[in-house]
Amino acid sequence: MDSATTLPATRDHPMHVLRVIASPRGTESESRRLSQEILEALTLQAGGRTLHATDLDTNELPAVDGSYAAALASPADPDSPPAPGTTLHRSDRLIAQLDAADVVVIATPIHNFTLPSALKAWVDHIVRIRSTFCVTPQGKVGTLRNRPVYVALSCGGFISGDRARQPDFLRPYLQHTLATVGLHDVHFVSVEGTALGEAALLAGRQRASEAVAALFDAYGCSLRTATNGTPLDRHHEAASALA
Ligand SMILES: Cc1cc2nc3c(=O)[nH]c(=O)nc-3n(C[C@H](O)[C@H](O)[C@H](O)COP(=O)(O)O)c2cc1C
Repeated sequence: MDSATTLPATRDHPMHVLRVIASPRGTESESRRLSQEILEALTLQAGGRTLHATDLDTNELPAVDGSYAAALASPADPDSPPAPGTTLHRSDRLIAQLDAADVVVIATPIHNFTLPSALKAWVDHIVRIRSTFCVTPQGKVGTLRNRPVYVALSCGGFISGDRARQPDFLRPYLQHTLATVGLHDVHFVSVEGTALGEAALLAGRQRASEAVAALFDAYGCSLRTATNGTPLDRHHEAASALA
């Protein structure tokens, strides 16, 4: 699907971006650094309209608990709203936050060939029967409105090209899981070789920046020229995953 046609931002409607952060390394994180470039590109793509970005640090999220597992296994949702502090309540809030976003950016490292446990905790909260997918005779069908998802991932070694010496379970897993809830427009950009010394890191960053530029150039937004134009208008806030 063409992202340029699916972005719902209009002159009157700011573009709401939810950035889901999975690295435990805070501002030192390579995946977060790369996601920042995607935010810049989205700001340019918004064409002078306000981009409203919310950060969700999944490292603050607890794992789902037994009451949540029991609720999902029940034939129907409980009649009364879930009490604050329960996994079900947190799940409601995280799903509402995801649903409110026009664009989702996920910043994640690879941990042991797949996604970090913090990001998996978020997935367990937002992939939820009767809320974000239904079970049909054809399988699970997502109920969320489709929207672009950009995944900025980083890894110490390589998962692409001739130097890849490890399996990559992260990209197929996220692709499939996001599609399960209705998000089919997923784009991956990776910074690879971050553990292989300064030169490899700089080369990896350069390749990743070029990939971001190519991705957004493909949608008619030239990152190389647009920085001479309109000043960027971006508002940023952090959301608590625990509330
Ligand atoms: C627990 C753990 C497991 C890791 N497993 C892998 C791995 O399987 N493959 C890989 O290439 N790098 C692996 N790495 C390295 C990270 O992916 C790499 O340092 C990445 O750039 C970190 O991104 P960040 O700065 O956004 O956290 C691992 C790092 C940690 C802490």
